[in-house]
Amino acid sequence: MENTDWKNLPFGYIKSDYNVRCYYRNGEWGELEISSKEHIDIHIAATCLHYGQQAFEGMKAFMGKDGKIRLFRWQDNAKRMNRSAEGIFMAPVPEELFKEAVVKTVLLNRRFSPPYGTGAALYIRPLLLGTGAQVGVKPANEYMFMVFVTPVGPYFKEGFNPVKIAIIKDSDRAAPLGTGNIKVGGNYAASLRGIMRATDAGYVSPMYLDARIKKYVDEIGAANFFGIKNNTYITPKSESILPSITNKSVMTLARDIGMNVECRPVAVEELESFEEAGACGTAAIITPIGEIHDLETGKTINYCKDGKPGAISEKIYNRLLSIQFGDEEDKFDWIEIIG
Ligand code: PLP
Ligand code: COI
Repeated sequence: MENTDWKNLPFGYIKSDYNVRCYYRNGEWGELEISSKEHIDIHIAATCLHYGQQAFEGMKAFMGKDGKIRLFRWQDNAKRMNRSAEGIFMAPVPEELFKEAVVKTVLLNRRFSPPYGTGAALYIRPLLLGTGAQVGVKPANEYMFMVFVTPVGPYFKEGFNPVKIAIIKDSDRAAPLGTGNIKVGGNYAASLRGIMRATDAGYVSPMYLDARIKKYVDEIGAANFFGIKNNTYITPKSESILPSITNKSVMTLARDIGMNVECRPVAVEELESFEEAGACGTAAIITPIGEIHDLETGKTINYCKDGKPGAISEKIYNRLLSIQFGDEEDKFDWIEIIG
C-alpha cells in the first residue's frame, strides 16, 4: 500500500481487499467464500444480534526480513475459539477450516501486511456468529464464520512506553462463573463502563479486580497483567480472565531466560512490591505499566521511575518480537510461514 505511514499506524480498522466467510447450515459447514464486501447480510432475529451469541479471536501475521509472512501460534487461537463456541453453545469451527480461512485472508491481502522493520503487523480477526433466527433465548441452528484483516500498530498509542492504569471497583467485566475466560462479545460490552471510567479520568485502561471480593487482580482491559520481582514473573490465576496466548508465550520466555514463573492469585496489596509491571496481549503486545492509580482510594503506585520500561520487560519484549518477526530461531515451534 503506497503512502502508508506504517511506523505510526494506530490500532484501528483499515479496509482491506478481501474477507472470507463460511456458513453452517443443516449441521455442517459449507465451502469458504471470498468476498470483497465489508458488510454482511443478516437475519433480523439472529441470535448474535439479540443475545450476544458470538465469539471472536485476535491474532497477528508478521512480515519477516525475508518478505515471508508468519503466523504466530494459530493453533492456540483456533482452540480458544472452539472453547468460546462450546461455552455459549455455538457450532465449533474445525481447526483446518480455521487455518484455511486465516491463511487465505492473509495471503489475499498481502499488500496490507506491514513491511518488516516498521513494528506494525497484520491483525487477523476471526469471528463466529449465531445467525439462525430465535426469539426465545436458545442457541441458533445456523452460524457464520468469517475472517477479516487490518494492518495495525500497538493497541496503546504509547507503544513500548510506560502507561497509566486505573483500578476500578464500581463495575465488573466478568463474573467468576460467567464467560470471562472465553472470548465472547458480551465481555467487551460489560468492560466498556470500566474503560470509559478509566479513560475519562486520563488513564489508558482499567485494571479489573476479581468480581467477588475485589481483592485480587484480574486483568487490564483487553490484556493480561504481569508483575516482576526477585527474578520471578508473576501473573494472576483467575477463573474470570481470558487465558492469553501472549502471556503463555511470555511465561515460556521468562523461564528460558532463567526466571521463575508463578501463575497464582495476585492481591492488590502486592502490586507495590513489584519491580516492574505490564500488560500483555496480541493487541497490547507487552505494554509496560508506569503507574497504577486506585480511583477509589486515590492511592498511586509508580513503576519505571525514570520514565523508561523496566530492563526485564524490555528483554522479554525484544525476544518475543524477534521470534515473531523471524529474526530469531523459532525454538518453541510457535511460527508457521505461510507464504
Ligand atoms: N484478555 C482479554 C480480555 C483480551 O481480550 C485479550 C486479547 O485477546 C487478552 C487478554 C490477551 O490474549 P492474547 O494474548 O491471546 O491476545
Ligand atoms: C487482542 O489482543 O487481540 C484483542 O482481542 C484485543 C481487542 C479486543 C482489542
